[in-house]
Amino acid sequence: MNEKIKQAANIIKQGGLVAFPTETVYGLGADATNEEACSKIFKIKGRPSINPLIVHIASIAQAESISIFNEDAYKLLTFWSGPLSIVLPLNKNANIAKSVLAGLDTIALRLPAHPIALQLLKEAGCPIAAPSANPSGYISATTTEHVQQHFANQDVFILSDNSSCQYGLESTIIDLTTPAPTILRYGFITPDSIESIIGKKVSTAPPLMTIKAPGMMDKHYSPQTPLRLNATDLEQGEIGLGFGEGQFRPMLNLSSIGNIVEAAANLYLMLRQLDDYASSNQISRIAVAPIPNSGIGLAINDRLKRAASL
Ligand code: TXA
Ligand code: MG
Repeated sequence: MNEKIKQAANIIKQGGLVAFPTETVYGLGADATNEEACSKIFKIKGRPSINPLIVHIASIAQAESISIFNEDAYKLLTFWSGPLSIVLPLNKNANIAKSVLAGLDTIALRLPAHPIALQLLKEAGCPIAAPSANPSGYISATTTEHVQQHFANQDVFILSDNSSCQYGLESTIIDLTTPAPTILRYGFITPDSIESIIGKKVSTAPPLMTIKAPGMMDKHYSPQTPLRLNATDLEQGEIGLGFGEGQFRPMLNLSSIGNIVEAAANLYLMLRQLDDYASSNQISRIAVAPIPNSGIGLAINDRLKRAASL
């Protein structure tokens, strides 16, 4: 693995693209200071240029050199390394590629916990801009196989140990540039846990709005097959995605024991499996059982809402 990571780091340094695992989802990375390299990410994903990228860093010192830290940011370091992205004012001398910022004067930073991601960042020596490794708008990739399906024929080096991503949902995004800290995207780091660390209330961005972080708003994370949410029965032409016991008989179950962590880890994988099945079996819709809307359930329901949005 070490040799492969070195090879991947060299590709990043030379302006190439590398797909790599993180504890949330796979990322599609490039040197965040190289404009040409970063613009390739937008091209290959079909990503709108108005949607900024998260920049991954290997250390707090590196984060401090790219952004302007404040008191809340220092408190939130308790969640690093891990599934939290922090939006801070950009340090204008940081030399971050223009396309990464999409015109904003803020930057989203994340210090990932996955050992391969961390080692890649250290070897490359530069910050790595990396959105999720999927075509824009489609379900994020949580396995090597899915990354290969999307990018094997492209000029992308796939770095992988063939394991699945531990959490299976993208990082929580907290914006510390707003008057009150604002959750821009729900994830494993919950609003409650953030509030308990910074000692103040956070606001949450209203669902499906169209400002600030366009990729997190409106339609996203979507299978080809339409979804029907909070389903308690199966209608004609539907297959079911269950949670816990007691609803209809689902084709797949996010967690038959009703465990929300397990459900999050299975969500994208099972949506992809059902989407594939539906398209080859004339299934018109995926019915999804209700998921409790608290804690990590907030993140699951948020993704489902966007996935179901037309
Ligand atoms: O878990 C994750 O965060 C994964 C892994 C690879 O680290 N990355 C990921 O990236 O989910 P992506 O591009 O799929 O989602 C990043 C989101 C976008 O919706 C973007 O709008 C938002 O972060 N974003 C990036 N920079 C921002 C900024 N300065 N202010 C507000 N939102 C920002
Ligand atoms: Mg994404």
